[in-house]
Order: sequence, then structure tokens, then C-alpha cells
Amino acid sequence: MREKVLKLLEESDDYISGEMISNKLSISRQSVSKHISKLNEMGYHIEAKHKKGYKYHKVDDIYNKYEIEKEIDNKFNIIFLDSVDSTNNYAKTIAEDKAVIIANTQTNGRGRLGRSWYSEKDKGVYLSIILKPDISVEEAPKLTLLSAAAMLTALRKLTDLDIKIKWPNDLVLKNKKLAGILTEMSLELGSINYIVVGIGVNVGSYLFPDDIKDKGIFLHKYHDISRKEIVVSFLKEFDILYHEFINGNFKTVIDISKEYSVILNKDIKIISKEERIVRAVDIDENGHLIIINEQGERENIFYGEVSIRGLYDYVD
Ligand code: BTN
Repeated sequence: MREKVLKLLEESDDYISGEMISNKLSISRQSVSKHISKLNEMGYHIEAKHKKGYKYHKVDDIYNKYEIEKEIDNKFNIIFLDSVDSTNNYAKTIAEDKAVIIANTQTNGRGRLGRSWYSEKDKGVYLSIILKPDISVEEAPKLTLLSAAAMLTALRKLTDLDIKIKWPNDLVLKNKKLAGILTEMSLELGSINYIVVGIGVNVGSYLFPDDIKDKGIFLHKYHDISRKEIVVSFLKEFDILYHEFINGNFKTVIDISKEYSVILNKDIKIISKEERIVRAVDIDENGHLIIINEQGERENIFYGEVSIRGLYDYVD
């Protein structure tokens, strides 16, 4: 009902009386006034004037379920939380196809390889998408590349920043980490029950803790852009690439991954059980990284338990 009140206010160019709203929506005047107080608390600006009624004033940076849903044609079911341990954890309790969990903060944000993901309140995009594609387990990691490609495209369209992909799951800006992806899946009798793709983007001015201060970067350092714009644009790009993918076309994702790769044609360090220094030369049609190994031979690197670093720094 609150959304209906908001919609009426948004659609009216001038003041609209409490009586008119109450008649149109068949709710009491008291209930109208309660919804309006709540909307103001949520960050909207609704002015109340004696004898005239209420007037909606546009506020640019509102980040909530309603504002996001308005712009994505009901393609995803948005669940918006102020605080949660981890949007990936929450997603697993729902396991509903195309639901997107978004939070203002995470108390236990998780990264790859058991690391944590710093999730400062109101400063980042922390979201997880639940998917139930009819694909084999081997294909599931492609969704990490797909999500990275979707976020890269979204951010490049919204900003003029030279954002790159560090295969397979990071976005980098000026050789520092801007976003990370954690893809997890639930299997049932060897086939996919659901997949959760979790993405964290550093947006606002971050008070990074000491251990990541030198490795991380946030968007507002260079470009002022709202979290809502990022989420909306990402979901639109994701929807396009995901439909292509489930219809058997993964080429756009590969093209984006190659064009904006920050590691191709560079010597890199691959960290798994041991460290190796190799040359990254290509990404194949399945999204695997092709390297020239220590013996000068071509080798396929699968996604999974590897970390990639530059020789001297996070990337370079
Ligand atoms: C990484 O780079 O190690 C992956 C980071 C993934 C962070 C996101 S934030 C939203 C989602 N929920 C989590 O707990 N983690 C992912």
C-alpha cells in the first residue's frame, strides 16, 4: 500500500490532498498520514502543507526495493535488507529462481577462499542473485565470468572509468580491486539445485581496514554514482547476458572478458598449493584461462581454487 501512496504522489504535479489519497486507495486518512511519515523516514521528501495536502519532491539517491523494482520491469524479485550476515547466506535460505538479495551492510560478508568481504554500511553494493539454470555442474563457473562481464558493462556505461576484469572474478580500477564475485552452488544427486552469485562493489568513500587499504579502491574516488544506478544497470546487463547464455550463446561474455582483461599478455603469478609464474595468453570459449607454463607449453587453467596476482602488485 505504501508503494501505491508513493505512486500517487509521484504522478501528481501539484499538491494532492490526504482526502483524495484516502478515497483513491480506500484507506483512512490516518493511514495515509502514517504511510507518508514512513516514506519520509525512508528518505523520500514529501512536503505536507496545511489545507493543500502533500507534494512529492524528487530525491536522487534513494536506495530501496521500490526504487530498484520500478526500473527493472519485474524481471527479478528484489529482497532488500538493511543488514544481514551475508547476502549469499540469506539467498541460500530462499533458493528462489531470479530472486536478488540486496543489503545496506553485511555483518559477515564472505569472499573467496574463506576470506571476508568488508561491507561498510551504506557504502557498497552487496547483492546476491539466485539462479536455477538447466546446465551441467562444469558450466556453473561460467556464471562468475558472466556476472563480471555484466558489472563491467554496467559500470563502464555509467562512468568514464577504465575498469578491467581480473579473471575470473574481480573487477579492478587502476590496478586495485573494485569488486569481487563469490559464486556458490547447491547440488542434489550431482545436478544443480541452485546457484548463488554474490557481488560486492566498493562504491562510497571506504574506510578500508589496514590489510586491504592498499589493494582496494572505491568508485566515488573518481566518479559520483548512486548504488541504485549501479544495481539497476547491472541487473539489466545481467538479464541480457544470462538469456544469451541459457540459449547457448556465451560469446558476448568471452568477448568482454578478453577485451577488458587486465591479465592477458602479461606474466602473472598463479597461487594455489604452490606459486607459479606463467604467461596469460588467452581465454577460451568455455571461459578457461590459457597460459604458457614454465615449460613453454599451453595449459588450461580452470576456475576454482586459484588466485591470480601480478608479479609485483595486485595486478602489475
Ligand atoms: C571475493 O572477491 O573474494 C568475492 C567477494 C564477494 C562479496 C560479495 S558481497 C555480496 C555477497 N555476499 C557475500 O557474503 N559475499 C558476496
